[in-house]
Amino acid sequence: MSKVLKSGETYLSEEPGSRADYGVNYGRVKSAGVDTTHGAILYLDDITVSFDGFKALNKLTLDISVGELRCIIGPNGAGKTTMMDVITGKTKASSGSAFFGQTIDLAKMNEVQIAHAGIGRKFQRPTVFEQHSVFENLELAMKMDKRVKPSLFFRLTSEQGGKIEEILKLIRLNGQEARAAGLLSHGQKQWLEIGMLLMQEPELILLDEPVAGMSDAETARTAELLNELRGKHSIMVVEHDMGFVTEIARQGKVSVLHEGSVLSEGTMQQVQNDERVIEVYLGR
Ligand SMILES: Nc1ncnc2c1ncn2[C@@H]1O[C@H](COP(=O)(O)OP(=O)(O)OP(=O)(O)O)[C@@H](O)[C@H]1O
Ligand SMILES: [Mg+2]
Repeated sequence: MSKVLKSGETYLSEEPGSRADYGVNYGRVKSAGVDTTHGAILYLDDITVSFDGFKALNKLTLDISVGELRCIIGPNGAGKTTMMDVITGKTKASSGSAFFGQTIDLAKMNEVQIAHAGIGRKFQRPTVFEQHSVFENLELAMKMDKRVKPSLFFRLTSEQGGKIEEILKLIRLNGQEARAAGLLSHGQKQWLEIGMLLMQEPELILLDEPVAGMSDAETARTAELLNELRGKHSIMVVEHDMGFVTEIARQGKVSVLHEGSVLSEGTMQQVQNDERVIEVYLGR
């Protein structure tokens, strides 16, 4: 069910799992669209992904609770990005199941449907609209949210304007809203993209190496930002920067991936002391 969008048109879908008719729900942790009655927002069960016989994911099982900030670590090639590809529909699993809440079967959906069901992803490279201002980027992100009624004469309501203000503060770009996004630093672009994701109020946010290429100061501010989001969103963060992971994991669960499956899971302190993790990743 692919459909090419014309300028100003908003994607609407009648597919199961779509949020077309759930209405705007700014300021809520989770919408009525995802059934999280058992406390989890994401269930990956026994997922295998084979590329010409090579198993990038090998019987991977992992759950994320509603409101959790889960850190994923592990060596290069462990399958972290592939896991995000499976969740977002970019890659199909050869076996196993992936559910968003209790009822939404991600394997039956394409990338667009999964995004609209409420899973937002940030890739490593920032993809902002460079010619547009910071404010316009956030506004465009809001327009791309299909829960907002499509209109040729889109005008921000005061609630939506307030939402943009709130996000600008959160992403440390208030006062810079008129600047062209192309003129921002790498770190600021990353924050803007996180802001654009947040404008669409995803139920689950996936961040792949959000602090790669950032300065130390930017990394520290990104940790602060994520700590502010804690509990308000369900978030999965893949990162190699252990200082950053320690900052945001706190007492929460960290999953260590290795050769396509979960090698260890526990608090940062627990996984750091796990001999198998030291062996394959953290070193002695
Ligand atoms: N499309 C593909 N075709 C073939 N092999 C692939 C494909 N995508 C990933 N792989 C392989 O699958 C394995 C897992 O890759 P993945 O990118 O998921 O690792 P990662 O944990 O994200 O690593 P990094 O920390 O370096 O980002 C790697 O060996 C990679 O080469
Ligand atoms: Mg990766």
